[in-house]
Amino acid sequence: MISAQFFTTVNFKIFLDTLKLLTFKLPYLRFGQEVDRLEIELKQYLNAEHSQIYSFYNWRSALYHWLTNLPNLTDLTNWTNEVLVSGYTCVSVINTIIQAWYKPVYVDIDESLNMQIEDAEKKVSNNTKAIIVQHTFWNPANMQAWTEFAEKHNLVLIEDCAHALWAEIGWKKVGTFGDMAIFSTWRDKVISSVTWWFLLINNPDLKVDKPKLIPVSRKLALQNLNYNIIAYLAWKMYDIKIWKVLMYIANKFKLIPPILTPNEKACRFDNFFYQLPNSLAYLARRQLRQVDKINVHRVQIANQYKEKLAWKYEFPKEESFAKNIYFGFPIFFDNEENLKKKVIEAKKHWVYLGTYWTGQNIVPVGSNLENCLYQNWNCPKAEDLAKRVLILANHFQFDKVDKIVDLLK
Ligand SMILES: Cc1ncc(COP(=O)(O)O)c(C=O)c1O
Repeated sequence: MISAQFFTTVNFKIFLDTLKLLTFKLPYLRFGQEVDRLEIELKQYLNAEHSQIYSFYNWRSALYHWLTNLPNLTDLTNWTNEVLVSGYTCVSVINTIIQAWYKPVYVDIDESLNMQIEDAEKKVSNNTKAIIVQHTFWNPANMQAWTEFAEKHNLVLIEDCAHALWAEIGWKKVGTFGDMAIFSTWRDKVISSVTWWFLLINNPDLKVDKPKLIPVSRKLALQNLNYNIIAYLAWKMYDIKIWKVLMYIANKFKLIPPILTPNEKACRFDNFFYQLPNSLAYLARRQLRQVDKINVHRVQIANQYKEKLAWKYEFPKEESFAKNIYFGFPIFFDNEENLKKKVIEAKKHWVYLGTYWTGQNIVPVGSNLENCLYQNWNCPKAEDLAKRVLILANHFQFDKVDKIVDLLK
C-alpha cells in the first residue's frame, strides 16, 4: 500500500498504450506529428489560442531558455539581475535561475503554501527583473494580487504551473494570467507523459526565440517509456513487497531516467535541450482525454481526507477565489518529530508516505542550500512548514483512504 505521489499516472491504460508503442509503433519513438497536435489541443484546453507554446524535455530547460532570452538585461555574468521565487520550491528551479546568471531572491510562504505578497514587497529591488509565482499543491496563488504586484514593480510575471495544470481562478485557467507560464506533464504530475513541460507565452510583447532543441536519443526515449511499464509492475507488486527491488534495479541499471542528476542536487544545471519525442506526446494526448475524470477522482479523495482528518490535522488554508484540482493533499503535523515517527511507523506497515516535499524548504532533502544561495532564516515560515508538512496521495490509482487515515490517527 502506498501513499506517495510518484505512482500518479501508472494505470492499466497507460501501461497498455506504452506496450503498444513499444511493440508496434517503434518508429513513433522520436519524430512525428503528435507534438504539434498536442500543443494545439493544450492551447484549446487552456483557452489560450493566441499564446505561443513551446515544448521542452523538462521544466529546467523551459525556464533557462526563457531567462536567457529576456530582453533588456544588464549584465548576464555576475548575478546582478534578480528573480523573486518561492521559498518552498524544487532545487531544479533554483539551479536554473543561478545557471542563467540570475540571483534567486526567496519569498516566504504562508499556510496556503504559496508566497506572501508582504514578504515580496520587502524583497523586491531595482535589480528584480521577474517573479515566478508557483501554484503549490493545494491552492492556486492569488493571481489578481500578483498581477498587480508585477505591474507595480514592472516585473515579468511567470507562473509555475507544475502542480496546477487545469486549476481555475474565476473560470480562467491557471497559467493564462502571467506573461508566461510553465506547465508539466512529468511522471508524478496531474497527467503524465513520463516527462515533458511546456512554455506558454501569453504576452505578445514578450518576444522569445524559438528554442533550438536537439532530438532525444533512442535510448532516452526508450528509458522514458520503460518507466511506465516498470512503475506499473511495481505498483501491482506493492503488496508482495518487492516493488522497491524492482525500482532499485531499474534505477541502478538506468532502465528508467533519473529524477534529478547528482549534479542538479548540488545545484548545477544539466542541459536538457531536447525535443519532446513523438511517443511521449502520443501518451500525453491520450492522458489529456482523461484529465477531467482524473481530477474528479482527486477531489473525491481530498474530500474524504478532509472529512476524516480534520479533527486531528490542519490543512493549508483554502482560498475562496479558486477552483482547485487538489493536486496532492498536504497535512500539517504539530512538530517534525511526530511527522518522522508516523513515517517510520507507516513503513513498518508497508505504507510508504511520500516525503519528497518534506524536511527542507528547497526540496528534496540533501539539495545543497548554500549553492542555492539560500541563507537560513531567510524564509522562516517556509522552513518551519516544510518540516511539518506531509503530502498525501490522491492520484488516480489511489483509493485506500481509510488505511492512511487509520495510520495517521
Ligand atoms: C513546482 C515545481 N516547479 C518546477 C519543477 C521543476 O521541474 P523539472 O524537474 O522538470 O525541471 C518541479 C519539479 O517537480 C516542481 O514541482
